[in-house]
Amino acid sequence: MRFYSLTIAAAAMLLSGCSAYSMGAEPTNSAAPVVADAAGEHTQAGVANPSIWPSYTYPVVTSDETEARIAQIIARMTLEEKIGQLVQADLCCVTAQDVKEYNLGSVLNGGNSGPYGNDTAPAPQWLKAADEFYDASVDISDGGVGIPIVWGTDAVHGHSNIIGATIFPHNIGLGAMRDAELVERIAQVTAKEIRVTGQEWTFAPTVAVPQDFRWGRAYEGYSSDPELVASYVGAMVRGLQGAPNSQNLLAGPYVIASTKHYLADGGTKDGIDQGDADISEEELRDIHGAPYGPAIENGVATVMASFSSWQGKKMTGNRSLLTDVLKDRMDFKGFVVSDWNAHGQVKGCTNESCPQAITAGIDMFMAPDTWKAIYADTLAKAKDGTIPMARIDEANAAVLRVKMRLGLFEAGRPSERLLSGDYDLLGAPEHRAVARESVRKSLVLLKNSGVLPLKADANLLVAGDGANDIARQSGGWTISWQGTGIENDSFPGATSLYAGIESAVAQAGGTAQLSPDGSFTKKPDAAIVVFGETPYAEFQGDRATLALDTELTAPYETMRKLKAQGIPVVAVMITGRPLYVNPALNIADAFVVTWLPGSEGGGLADVLIGDQAGKARYDFTGQLPAAWPNTPEMGDGVLFPFGYGLNYTAPASAWQPLAEVDTANAGDSRNWLKAGVPASSWSLLVEGDGSGEETRITTLPVNALSGRVRVTASDYIVQEGARRFTISSGQSAVTLRNFEPIDLDRETNADVLLLFTAKTWTPLKNAKIGASGNASEGIVDLSLPKTDDYVRYGIPLKCFRTNGADMTALTKPFVLETNGPADFGLTEIRLGSDAEQILPCQ
Ligand code: BGC
Ligand code: BGC
Repeated sequence: MRFYSLTIAAAAMLLSGCSAYSMGAEPTNSAAPVVADAAGEHTQAGVANPSIWPSYTYPVVTSDETEARIAQIIARMTLEEKIGQLVQADLCCVTAQDVKEYNLGSVLNGGNSGPYGNDTAPAPQWLKAADEFYDASVDISDGGVGIPIVWGTDAVHGHSNIIGATIFPHNIGLGAMRDAELVERIAQVTAKEIRVTGQEWTFAPTVAVPQDFRWGRAYEGYSSDPELVASYVGAMVRGLQGAPNSQNLLAGPYVIASTKHYLADGGTKDGIDQGDADISEEELRDIHGAPYGPAIENGVATVMASFSSWQGKKMTGNRSLLTDVLKDRMDFKGFVVSDWNAHGQVKGCTNESCPQAITAGIDMFMAPDTWKAIYADTLAKAKDGTIPMARIDEANAAVLRVKMRLGLFEAGRPSERLLSGDYDLLGAPEHRAVARESVRKSLVLLKNSGVLPLKADANLLVAGDGANDIARQSGGWTISWQGTGIENDSFPGATSLYAGIESAVAQAGGTAQLSPDGSFTKKPDAAIVVFGETPYAEFQGDRATLALDTELTAPYETMRKLKAQGIPVVAVMITGRPLYVNPALNIADAFVVTWLPGSEGGGLADVLIGDQAGKARYDFTGQLPAAWPNTPEMGDGVLFPFGYGLNYTAPASAWQPLAEVDTANAGDSRNWLKAGVPASSWSLLVEGDGSGEETRITTLPVNALSGRVRVTASDYIVQEGARRFTISSGQSAVTLRNFEPIDLDRETNADVLLLFTAKTWTPLKNAKIGASGNASEGIVDLSLPKTDDYVRYGIPLKCFRTNGADMTALTKPFVLETNGPADFGLTEIRLGSDAEQILPCQ
């Protein structure tokens, strides 16, 4: 017995020093392409050479006693308990009872999950759930060790899942500030607010170095410049976790951080989310690897592996980068968590099975809805030796070391810890002040013919569709995953851009009239027109070009009209990235980029509105965190370089009109049917009962299927904005077909919905809805009541997969089958998460 425990302790010391397990885990693929590196040496694609990477020193966050304690715990754990520690489940799909039964190491709330099935649950519910998970984890009535659970959340710009929390500018805006000291204060506030509701871990900061701003996550990165990103990381990690070698974090106002997504999430080809960074190892190291140095030296507790690939090989299975470079060469001594079912994308893996990830160096699976299967499979693979026991123990030691460092074993129930339940801290005035300061400092002035600053007693018109919309100014990852469909009343205590302007002028005797379309009764002294992007997250924000979606450019016309009436126009752009907006730059007298400022819209007015004499109260200090494009095409020239930004002391120079190009087709390619019209490369069809009979709907009205189906135009929002299908009898289907099969696998994985906006003149009975490809079809029952107006229905893509569709190759992602008479209209079909009504999966 004595001999045994000594051995374990000795092994633990070894584990804390370096990776004990170093067996070649990724089966070497002899067919892998061989590439030449800079020195002319031949290396294997996707396999890193650790010796060319910098080495760092991780701070000492453990002690001999702690290591001995870890070893003792591991010695007492059953294999089942060990596997449980390596699994993280999402709140969507796990109960406290599960946590107890499977000894799960962690839970998370993904973008659309909250406690008790409620993503918008009030703060006390989060704390209550935290207590329940904690109690379940330490319950040893079944004879287990009882290791306290850690709860991770995407507090990526403040505690951004919680109603009432302070929402900071997204990272791209922080990049414009060039102020690491302020970044540290932002992180401190974020940590405090997280602690109020009982979580201990944030999946932040994102340290991506975006190189292509067509990427839907570009705004989560601080800058395209590795040096600027690297200069923020230490501050962010310290603000969240405390000093580099901090211990017992929960005794102070701290949480653990996670730098993500390792590695080169911002380097994928064409900016495709979860895509491939087809770049040299030097670029990988110098651009995307740069932020990990300060992260490690500041003792970041966790690293999240990227969904993406390097040279065709998925990060989640890349042993050379996860273990040889990150852990061994760069000395990272925390644990590595994988991303949302990302293991399923590793070659040879599925969402339900991936020993490759663990052997490559992943220490914890983020297996939101698949945790039970991955648990069972990992257990089996540990039992049969596919995953060496030394690796299981090493991963457990890494997780336990972080839990020890947090002080999780001593902290007691979440509700009993420092700051817990101090709900007044959520959105506290002193926290909002920090956010407002960061809004002020992140604004970038691109043009000013002298109209700014505005006088405090002016009569202003505040126009544009983004002026009074806090969700819009907050962007994705705000309350919900996509940040869409949230009204201002879900942001108690927050200030819209308009409200900030209104309060600034009202104090000095001026007025601010809110008028989204720019109409007015009394001619204003000047107009502020707020326009720009609407919220998105992850791949839903990927675009083919750097153009602002056409449907979002309507405010240009408002600006033109105002100008024509002799009213000076200040354009304010809400955006997650630099985009081609030359028309707006040409029209407006001044142009300000606010990025995604978050809950404290007052920061805009602080800078735009001076005193009564028109003297500035605050000057612009923001500088572009990435170059601003001259055309919608990526790589087609720079209009304003990295670092550009005007201020009030720089004299206004004469404006040279910019060339304008047509962007009529710019937009979200996941919008397949818009105003009744299919997008380019899509066809709207009426099909018969399998005989191959079909009518392609182009001109209207038309009789399809030998007159059984009458298709007419119907009005919705605009004249003829919808298609009405009046079916007299028989079996028929309305389908959308694409020429090339499309791959909706990642959308399916992420709980995205198929949205269709429909009106039913008669109840729709005996109908089916599905998605089909050449090889397979998944179809489910559908019935809809009669409606008076159009309703945006959503059905989880998962339903189709569960029912047999191969979501990687769909030719008809929308099939609506009817049997017998029916009468319905369709206006829009697309992917998204903003359904008015989610349909059950039958
Ligand atoms: C994202 C991560 C996030 C995780 C949990 C993933 O899809 O890539 O950044 O932390 O989900 O919500
Ligand atoms: C979750 C996010 C997650 C995403 C994965 C969503 O359903 O809510 O947290 O990041 O899927 O792509």
